[in-house]
Amino acid sequence: MTENPEASKAPVTVPIRSLGPGHRARIAAHLLALDEHDRYLRFGYGATDEQIKRYVASLDFERDEIFGIYNRKLELIAMAHLAFSHDPAMRSCAEFGVSVLKKARARGYGARLFDRAVMHARNEGVELLFIHALSENTAMIKIARNAGATLERAGSETDAHLRLPPATLDSRVNELIDEQVAKTDYRLKVQAKNFWDFLMGVQEVRQGVRDARRKTSG
Ligand SMILES: CC(C)(COP(=O)(O)OP(=O)(O)OC[C@H]1O[C@@H](n2cnc3c(N)ncnc32)[C@H](O)[C@@H]1OP(=O)(O)O)[C@@H](O)C(=O)NCCC(=O)NCCS
Repeated sequence: MTENPEASKAPVTVPIRSLGPGHRARIAAHLLALDEHDRYLRFGYGATDEQIKRYVASLDFERDEIFGIYNRKLELIAMAHLAFSHDPAMRSCAEFGVSVLKKARARGYGARLFDRAVMHARNEGVELLFIHALSENTAMIKIARNAGATLERAGSETDAHLRLPPATLDSRVNELIDEQVAKTDYRLKVQAKNFWDFLMGVQEVRQGVRDARRKTSG
């Protein structure tokens, strides 16, 4: 089942943050890294690079909510798109789409992103959350089924919908805390990565000086 040998060492909790337009390039890199089959599972068709770029350019961060999980190298290893209806009369419905890079699968990230999207959707007043999956997509169907979604299989495609309970003070506070924790985690990752890059630069300069010395003394 697992494509990832380190799956058992995975953390149970993971900081998930809401992404804004400043993350577009990393979102594009994440989706372009999906192979043909994963693109087919994610979008329902084998999206080309051009189609993915158009999708990323069209993301509406005001209306929708995009969530992401970053690793220490600031690579977006998992992301989810909670899409709200264009029609204000259908504001109580939203659709969930998700992707996790192969190397980060079977650690629970897909399920955590779903939980996060459910919490946000509830807090936005969504009553019905839709998931469109191919029937072969066992992992996605498990995520939906585990959450209590109703599944309707029509041949190679399966539609799932989950009825959400109304928001509570708890769900609102929990979302604020989760978002704050994730933003802090991201800020620390940015600092750590910048510092590592700086150290690498210093190492390169040192090596350059050593090489130059060796040449002049030799
Ligand atoms: C679907 C996807 C997001 C799942 O992400 P993930 O992080 O690997 O999923 P999780 O680790 O949270 O696992 C979720 C459930 O699926 C199960 N699962 C994971 N990979 C599985 C696999 N290859 N086969 C069968 N079950 C699998 C897990 O055991 C878990 O079930 P459990 O909680 O009952 O044990 C990921 O496979 C993916 O990105 N696929 C390509 C894009 C896609 O299919 N998107 C969904 C359509 S919108």
